Amino acid sequence: MRLERMKERFEKLYGSGGEVFAYHSPGRVNLIGEHTDYNGGYVLPCALTLGTCGIIRKRENRLLRFASTNIGGAYIEIGLDQIEYNREHSWVNYLLGVVAEFQNLGLPVGGLELLLSGDMSSNAGLSSSASVEMLMAAALNELFETKLETIELVKLAQRAENRFVGVNCGIMDQYAVGMGKKDRAMLLDCTSLACEYIPVEPDGHCLIIGNTNSPRNLAGSGYNTRREECERAVKMLRSGHEITLLGQLTPAQFETDKHRITCPTARKRATHVIYEIERTKQAAEHLRAGNLAAFGELMNQSHRSLAGLFEVTGKALDTMVNAAWKQEGVLGSRMTGAGFGGCTVSLVKESCAGAFIENVGKIYKEETGIEAAFYTAGIGEGTRRIG
Ligand code: GLA
Repeated sequence: MRLERMKERFEKLYGSGGEVFAYHSPGRVNLIGEHTDYNGGYVLPCALTLGTCGIIRKRENRLLRFASTNIGGAYIEIGLDQIEYNREHSWVNYLLGVVAEFQNLGLPVGGLELLLSGDMSSNAGLSSSASVEMLMAAALNELFETKLETIELVKLAQRAENRFVGVNCGIMDQYAVGMGKKDRAMLLDCTSLACEYIPVEPDGHCLIIGNTNSPRNLAGSGYNTRREECERAVKMLRSGHEITLLGQLTPAQFETDKHRITCPTARKRATHVIYEIERTKQAAEHLRAGNLAAFGELMNQSHRSLAGLFEVTGKALDTMVNAAWKQEGVLGSRMTGAGFGGCTVSLVKESCAGAFIENVGKIYKEETGIEAAFYTAGIGEGTRRIG
């Protein structure tokens, strides 16, 4: 929704007066490096031009009011002293989690009114949650003059998701959303948080995001289970190495010692992680060198590993990616994000994009009965004030 229309909606809902602030916070797409962030590896995401807009204003009391144009209806009101997780208010929990983290740090947060409007579906796996969390964090930081650096806001938003929402996510989403730059992919070392911004020069190609529109019911519980399985692998490898995370092992060290992982599931998970980290580093090299064909091939390998070893794809994602691989002008295609439904990302020759969307959509509908949605993704800026 356009900013002016949003401002009108805001005043209609909450009344006029006072200084209003406007923010945009992007979604993200991960090009490669999946389920590596919480294992101390590398990821290669980009912030999107798609995302969430928010209009916000301070109140002179201790009430928080939240509304969204995507949901409509009245606002939800919560006292600053009654912040607790409420399952029925799914999207509000992301906001409350951020407020709670400000409070945990002893930072002064007062009452406010917020209207959000998002142009990504909340279940697509493009990090609409991190988008909303970072918007809230940036807005609170400015409104209440708490003067935290963006990187501190990123970590705070991740803690909100871990502690308040209960998803043990890594740092990738909040980092990509908070620190993204236009037309740049980010090679992030998830241990040191050192980030290299790599220009994406598409050279006649585009990124197409395919939304499977398939429910991601397992996203919370399945995600946490994968994380535990990786931790189990680390414990078993520890008899030979002083490690706390899988990412601390080279592939050669892993090959020598993988027999120590006696649980077959944990061994499969670890194998994915070790080689996905390698693929991510190689993919960054190909991107720097402008070798998109080699980059695309690594995307394909990543998907196969996520399907066969990490087992987070499922019928919807596999059907869409398999259909994509058969199309003309496709350099690479894979699932993106946590998996269990959600989106795919494909690197496609621009001249073939129309046929790609039509054909993949058709095959996907025939095989799953579900209507897919496609977006040609622009790479945008991180969370920022826009008015
Ligand atoms: C979700 C999490 C991220 C990351 C990905 C998988 O998006 O929020 O931290 O682990 O899944 O790569």
